[in-house]
Amino acid sequence: MARTVLVATDKPFAKPAVDGIRDVLTKAGYTLEMLENYTTPAELVAAVATPDALIVRSDKVTKEVLAAATNLKIVVRAGAGYDNVDCEAAKAKDVVVMNTPGQNANAVAELAFGMMLNLARRKYTGKSGTELRGKTIGIHAYGNVGRCVAAIAKGFGMTVKAFDPFVAAKAMEAEGVVPVSSVEELYGSCDYISLHIPANDKTKKSINFALLSRMKKGAALINTARKEVIDEAGLLQMMAERTDFFYGTDLAPDCLAEMNEKYGERFFATAKKMGAQTAEANINAGIAAAKQIVAFFEKGDATFRVN
Ligand code: 3PG
Repeated sequence: MARTVLVATDKPFAKPAVDGIRDVLTKAGYTLEMLENYTTPAELVAAVATPDALIVRSDKVTKEVLAAATNLKIVVRAGAGYDNVDCEAAKAKDVVVMNTPGQNANAVAELAFGMMLNLARRKYTGKSGTELRGKTIGIHAYGNVGRCVAAIAKGFGMTVKAFDPFVAAKAMEAEGVVPVSSVEELYGSCDYISLHIPANDKTKKSINFALLSRMKKGAALINTARKEVIDEAGLLQMMAERTDFFYGTDLAPDCLAEMNEKYGERFFATAKKMGAQTAEANINAGIAAAKQIVAFFEKGDATFRVN
């Protein structure tokens, strides 16, 4: 059966990724519709009216969007975190939600190191900085991105520790990573913490002053995960009280202006979320999403279903 797939990305994929998605869908006899660079939720609501499938990035797939999607059977978030999709509302409408785990992980991990180097070298101002070699990095959540971070960290000559209650200590040890048994221990024993936890009811605002204040002198927190996991009042308190502490983030905090104004030398935020903003990550995640949609319709394959 011929199907229509809408790619809705307010932050578009690189062109080769769109070409690859089109190729996969055309071979399956499907039609591709594009909604790129849209600026209002109403545009997405209008565009979802007829398609059978939807591919998004961090685009918000709300109750309202789902209510307007009369034919929709599947939403694939081309990426890892699916906190932008109302999974319960989708389930209530029998709409399958999937992600494409791992496909953009390397891009995010490389950006984490870009931010570490930026802060270690004092934002390239010419001031004397520090090196990554010989330092300890703590990976908070050892999933696909965490594992890429670990692999790169070893190349820099860093000691790698990780905390993840869902990953066996033996699996970490097999990859040369030191497992630690609590977040408190992780934050208290590392020079860098790289955050890779999802945003959900359990993790929101969980990175608070009590945890941050355990960090070593001169330590840096690197956030390529989500803005919502940070308790911003606690972050501001940490920046004020611990003048040795650094924060680098791919997710601009709500307190961005205050952070830049008061703590600009120890703080860096990307202009726009760009962890997965590489041609390679777009190609990997976008084409995986298209293939998952075809496999779902043609074979009933729901391997990466998350709802
Ligand atoms: C993800 O969850 O996959 C990353 O945060 C990337 O998000 P993006 O596709 O919006 O860049």
